Amino acid sequence: MKREQLYFFTFLFIFHCFHYQVQAQQIFPTSTCSTNETNNPCQTYVFYRAIAPELLNLANISDLFSVSRLMISKPSNLSTTTSPLLPNQPLLIPITCSCNSNHNFSYSNLTYIIKPADTFYQVSTHTYQNLTTYQAVEAVNPTLIPTLLQIGQNVVFPIFCKCPNKTQVLNQVNYLISYVFQPNDNLSSIGEFFGSNVKSLIDVNGEKIQPFDVIYIPVSRIPQFAQPFVTPLSPSSQREERKEVIIGLSVGLGVSCFLLILLISIIGVWYYRELLKRKENINEEKGNKHQLKRMKSSIEEENLMADVSDCLDKYKVYGIHEVKEATAGFSPNCLIQGSVYKGYIGEELYAIKKMKWNAYEQLKILQKVNHGNLVRLEGFSIDPEDGNCYLVYEYVENGSLYSWLNKERLNMKKLDWKTRLRIAIDVANGLQYIHEHTRPKVVHKDIKTSNILLDGNMRAKIANFGLAKSGCNAITMHIVGTQGYIAPEYLADGIVTTKMDVFSFGVVLLELITGKEAINEEGKVLWLNVDKVLEGGEEMKQLKLKQWMDEVLIDENCSLEGVMNVMAVAIACLQKDPSRRPSMVDIVYTLCKSDDLHFDFSEDGLSVTPISAR
Ligand SMILES: *[C@@H]1O[C@H](CO)[C@@H](O)[C@H](O)[C@H]1NC(C)=O
Ligand SMILES: *[C@@H]1O[C@H](CO)[C@@H](O)[C@H](O)[C@H]1NC(C)=O
Ligand SMILES: *[C@@H]1O[C@H](CO)[C@@H](O)[C@H](O)[C@H]1NC(C)=O
Ligand SMILES: *[C@@H]1O[C@H](CO)[C@@H](O)[C@H](O)[C@H]1NC(C)=O
Ligand SMILES: *[C@@H]1O[C@H](CO)[C@@H](O)[C@H](O)[C@H]1NC(C)=O
Ligand SMILES: *[C@@H]1O[C@H](CO)[C@@H](O)[C@H](O)[C@H]1NC(C)=O
Ligand SMILES: *[C@@H]1O[C@H](CO)[C@@H](O)[C@H](O)[C@H]1NC(C)=O
Ligand SMILES: *[C@@H]1O[C@H](CO)[C@@H](O)[C@H](O)[C@H]1NC(C)=O
Repeated sequence: MKREQLYFFTFLFIFHCFHYQVQAQQIFPTSTCSTNETNNPCQTYVFYRAIAPELLNLANISDLFSVSRLMISKPSNLSTTTSPLLPNQPLLIPITCSCNSNHNFSYSNLTYIIKPADTFYQVSTHTYQNLTTYQAVEAVNPTLIPTLLQIGQNVVFPIFCKCPNKTQVLNQVNYLISYVFQPNDNLSSIGEFFGSNVKSLIDVNGEKIQPFDVIYIPVSRIPQFAQPFVTPLSPSSQREERKEVIIGLSVGLGVSCFLLILLISIIGVWYYRELLKRKENINEEKGNKHQLKRMKSSIEEENLMADVSDCLDKYKVYGIHEVKEATAGFSPNCLIQGSVYKGYIGEELYAIKKMKWNAYEQLKILQKVNHGNLVRLEGFSIDPEDGNCYLVYEYVENGSLYSWLNKERLNMKKLDWKTRLRIAIDVANGLQYIHEHTRPKVVHKDIKTSNILLDGNMRAKIANFGLAKSGCNAITMHIVGTQGYIAPEYLADGIVTTKMDVFSFGVVLLELITGKEAINEEGKVLWLNVDKVLEGGEEMKQLKLKQWMDEVLIDENCSLEGVMNVMAVAIACLQKDPSRRPSMVDIVYTLCKSDDLHFDFSEDGLSVTPISAR
């Protein structure tokens, strides 16, 4: 262990020396940025050519840039998102560009998952077509050793980009498109292709342009290419398939309606009761037909059905107008919290979360998880105008555990010990699932009482996978999460493991026991000194436990022993050394065998048992 650390620091030291040396030789191209430029970050585009053989379909390319297929096909003037591309077919791909103050250079962070035989050089020059350089990749991933990449590892590739400055915006330069200068290019041919001119190209890029340099093409609006017409290899484009199914269905329904009417006219009055029943059926089918019609028209008008990648097939795609209608145009009246709104789509109430276009990551994670203790994603919607994504979740009616534990709901009845214990077990089950049963493992990274929602039966569901990471033992460079819940090793070194969720879960247990917040007004974290509770003799322990316990629980007169058991689990979870914390499997086991649990664990929901008098 120590030796490894030594190697690591030696490496860091050598790397830093090396780093500064190459810095002098310019890792990033010359043009610099400053963070106080007006429109930073900005949305811009990169020019990319489809390459044979592996990047000839939009699905592969959209994965590479973490965008949806529609977001590429629209600006690129592609008529469909499902046909294969031709080699060298030009594409415009949207990216979010921002200035990085460490390097004084602007780029877009793209996360790439290392595949067999990948190197920084290969991925920069081939996969990303020289839109970045391997030196820049090394600079933004200082903790990664280029020669020791692991398959499946996430690496940030900084795609070079630029946001127009104030003067440029005044001069109608709204986008600076990143383009890799090709050996047979000249500025006039580029200007013509993009609808720009040589003078403005030189203004932005200077005159010394080498082949394979990234240059920025100033344009006032997104250029439109005449795309070659590509005949689909097979007629089975997804959209057409769906249309066929729908037409098939409506024809089928039409015929059965006709038969029913015939039947009705034949059958006499004495079949009256039967008839009534059938009438109900007809009404139902009419309803279905209406819905199908609506679906069909929405397929036609929004050409976004097939786009957000085949991997997301299991979700419903809502039209943007449906989402807007449900939330009355995102009116404050429908706001639940943050950027989450509630609204009816059809008869059902949903929670609708507005996201920027990086929602794709979350979708990828959510499609892997499906468990009763995780909030279910029903579908999503994309606004083709601004690229915003809306995630549509099941609506969990009783709100967050936070609001139940804290003073927010004075008129609500307080949670009794059994309910709290059951919530703890539900959350533990949800976490066990994402830690043990997903490949690669998912780490939630932001477990806290406000991300735990309670349904009508007070069963808990984990929400908000916004920060979740798949893949284990990753190291992140910027710390996310919530004060009071963050594991110390993550705060110190950015190490992401499932054990950081275990730590946060320990804090949640502590909140369930104490009814206090994870961090108080003075900024003191709740978990400080909690391990002292387990010191001393039995009586001493109970005395100390009572000082920590929620008054409501003391009044309830619940078994101190039971609370002590949960406290012991919490303290184990809160160990400073992550390797000494229990796994979620152990935690679920320990909590479930707790004596206080007198309800039965059948799947079809628990009846809320009355508090047993003790
Ligand atoms: C950025 O802000 C500093 C001071 O706040 C100012 O001196 C500098 O000129 C600004 N840079 C730009 C490019 O606006
Ligand atoms: C790209 O798509 C093809 C199918 O067209 C697939 O076989 C291949 O594995 C994909 N390649 C990558 C790098 O994702
Ligand atoms: C890229 O991500 C890192 C951390 O993940 C962040 O510090 C940096 O500011 C980001 N840079 C850009 C240009 O978005
Ligand atoms: C970035 O710019 C700031 C001020 O503009 C300067 O202090 C800093 O040294 C620069 N950093 C690098 C890496 O060039
Ligand atoms: C990227 O640049 C290298 C030279 O630096 C060149 O050999 C390679 O062909 C370029 N890649 C592409 C896709 O143009
Ligand atoms: C630029 O390239 C185009 C074709 O690629 C060629 O017709 C034109 O003569 C070139 N212009 C200059 C100034 O080299
Ligand atoms: C804006 O960018 C142009 C071209 O790079 C440059 O000439 C000009 O000085 C910049 N203006 C400001 C205010 O930074
Ligand atoms: C966009 O593509 C269509 C064919 O799909 C073509 O008719 C149209 O001219 C293209 N637009 C431009 C501006 O080239």
